Amino acid sequence: MLQLNKLTKTYRTGDKALQDVTLTIPKGQVLALIGPSGAGKSTLIRCINRLVEPTSGSVILDGTDVTALSSGGLRKMRRQMGMIFQEYALVERLTVMENVLSGRLGYVGFWRSFLRKYPQSDVDEAFRLLDRVGLLAMADKRADELSGGQRQRVGIARALIQNPRLLLVDEPTASLDPKTSRQIMRLICELCAERDLAAVINIHDVALAQMFVERIVGLKAGELAFDGKPTEMSDEVLTTIYGEEDWHATIRDVDDEEEDTVAVEPVL
Ligand SMILES: Nc1ncnc2c1ncn2[C@@H]1O[C@H](COP(=O)(O)OP(=O)(O)OP(=O)(O)O)[C@@H](O)[C@H]1O
Ligand SMILES: [Mg+2]
Repeated sequence: MLQLNKLTKTYRTGDKALQDVTLTIPKGQVLALIGPSGAGKSTLIRCINRLVEPTSGSVILDGTDVTALSSGGLRKMRRQMGMIFQEYALVERLTVMENVLSGRLGYVGFWRSFLRKYPQSDVDEAFRLLDRVGLLAMADKRADELSGGQRQRVGIARALIQNPRLLLVDEPTASLDPKTSRQIMRLICELCAERDLAAVINIHDVALAQMFVERIVGLKAGELAFDGKPTEMSDEVLTTIYGEEDWHATIRDVDDEEEDTVAVEPVL
């Protein structure tokens, strides 16, 4: 379980990016975080693993106060928080397999990783994960030869090989086409369900969030503006979060459409 208590971040510039955000995310829950640009979504995700240091408030993961950890403790804790970025952040000249294995860096130690000597059990797990995300045939390809969707799958496998307790995902579909976006969201949500893994996913596409997650939290100017089920999303809620607009085409009418349950097709 992840608890955020009155989490507040004021940047040195004076920007109040987060103000008193209190949230409890139970084990296994996948949550989408929406809100306008600048609302504090990335800041929230980064305060959870302290890539950004919160100004006040606390982050508690399974009873451990992350905000109170020293640098050694924080390093260990970060292994338990898998992070997936919008810009994929792969090492371009390394292969798919090496990129996935780099997720083990926090475990194998500097020299072994420098010499790229990973234990066989890590290599086996990397193959299993690549198979699961549909990239087994691409294990030896270089990262710079992949499409955006394929790169995102590598990022997902790399985050999962850490065996995290929590996934932090910042705009996983921002530069993907609509079909690939669905495949990636579906893959992330299926993997979380398989592993009983909680996730916080920042996403701009409200309809896509509604399609796959069980809870949506809206941020506005650093404060919580909505917390509810995808079915509770409405024109009024979107106006509260984003301001006045005609929202009709933005919201998915959840009652009208069946959940899309097609299995993920490997992109080869
Ligand atoms: N390193 C920083 N230094 C100063 N201010 C920052 C920094 N990073 C973010 N901010 C400010 O904090 C606020 C929240 O930014 P954040 O990146 O968390 O928003 P966001 O919701 O992720 O936006 P987007 O949807 O555009 O990614 C903004 O006003 C931003 O200008
Ligand atoms: Mg952001």
